[in-house]
Amino acid sequence: MKILVLTKINDYLKSKMEDLGKKYNISWIVVPGKEVNTVLPEIDAIVAGYVAPEQIEIAKNLKAIFVPWAGADMLPWDVIKKKGVFVANSHGNGKIVAERALALALTLTARVVEYHNDLLKGIWHGFAVGFKKEDLWFSLQNKNVAILGTGTIGRHLAKLLRGFGCKIIGFKRVFKEIKDFDLITTSIESAIKDAHVVFVTLPLTKETYHIINKKVLLLMKNKFLINVGRGELIEEKALYKALENKILAGYASDVWYNYPGKEKSVVLPFNYPIHKFKNVVISPHVGGYTIEGQEGRIDELIENIEHFIMKGKPKNIVDPEQMY
Ligand SMILES: NC(=O)c1ccc[n+]([C@@H]2O[C@H](COP(=O)([O-])OP(=O)(O)OC[C@H]3O[C@@H](n4cnc5c(N)ncnc54)[C@H](OP(=O)(O)O)[C@@H]3O)[C@@H](O)[C@H]2O)c1
Repeated sequence: MKILVLTKINDYLKSKMEDLGKKYNISWIVVPGKEVNTVLPEIDAIVAGYVAPEQIEIAKNLKAIFVPWAGADMLPWDVIKKKGVFVANSHGNGKIVAERALALALTLTARVVEYHNDLLKGIWHGFAVGFKKEDLWFSLQNKNVAILGTGTIGRHLAKLLRGFGCKIIGFKRVFKEIKDFDLITTSIESAIKDAHVVFVTLPLTKETYHIINKKVLLLMKNKFLINVGRGELIEEKALYKALENKILAGYASDVWYNYPGKEKSVVLPFNYPIHKFKNVVISPHVGGYTIEGQEGRIDELIENIEHFIMKGKPKNIVDPEQMY
């Protein structure tokens, strides 16, 4: 079996590829960008987060695409559906992303960055100076929390928030009760109605693109919003306006609208200057970037490939109609 690898390969993935290669006689193909099209006709599977539609057309023996993380939003789904290629993804870093979501929430509600920046300039809050509005931070304990997306990340996050005594409401596409959630709903409005803090852990799909738009943001008066799903789940201009008009109590995000690429390595992640607001915390898409997070997602990638070899289909198949 020939598997083309188009993603970055760290030492852990390299050693896993070597082991799996020996066990199942896999030829791993790793070639520079320009040469990819010459090898496509002979490969059986691809490890990648993005593949161009024409590459899928050229790869006439292609049976599976293994996305080595959860988000499958960059794939050309129309061609994939037409060709009947399996797509598998990996949720093995979900536990770590949940921790990052909680870290961002605590940083935002406890005003950690704001106070840090002020104190660097000698400006104090609280104990030493008094009881102004900006001297108080907001505790998460015993608050109402909405988690939009009750998948791997959402469930791990709910478990962590249990320790804070939060009342947890989950929003999902198909109704089903879930452990650690006090209430489940399929209505985004009901989910956020009584929440003090709203977490976004949704995948980006045709249905969820801009799911948080001007109308939904207007329902978030005085609520904190934390996003670890994808930037485009939230309409960017509406987000900026919601901060400018002091609708949101604050915003923290790990996921963005602009990313560095081959042409530009230094890039601001937004198009509207949300960093001018003190109640914003920004994080450079590092939700899964711990040793455990990286190993977790790679272990699940390897499991998917092994399952495909042994049983003819990967373990975590992405539904092509739903894109997650
Ligand atoms: N920041 C980072 O570094 C990082 C790392 C990993 C992942 N992510 C992002 O997080 C996303 C979620 O990951 P995951 O592993 O938790 O995914 P998952 O296990 O597939 O869970 C997805 C959840 O979203 C819900 N959902 C999907 N479409 C919906 C819709 N239209 N309306 C309401 N709910 C909807 C699903 O509902 P049902 O339960 O009803 O199906 C499910 O609960 C990924 O797709 C990726 O974009 C970010």
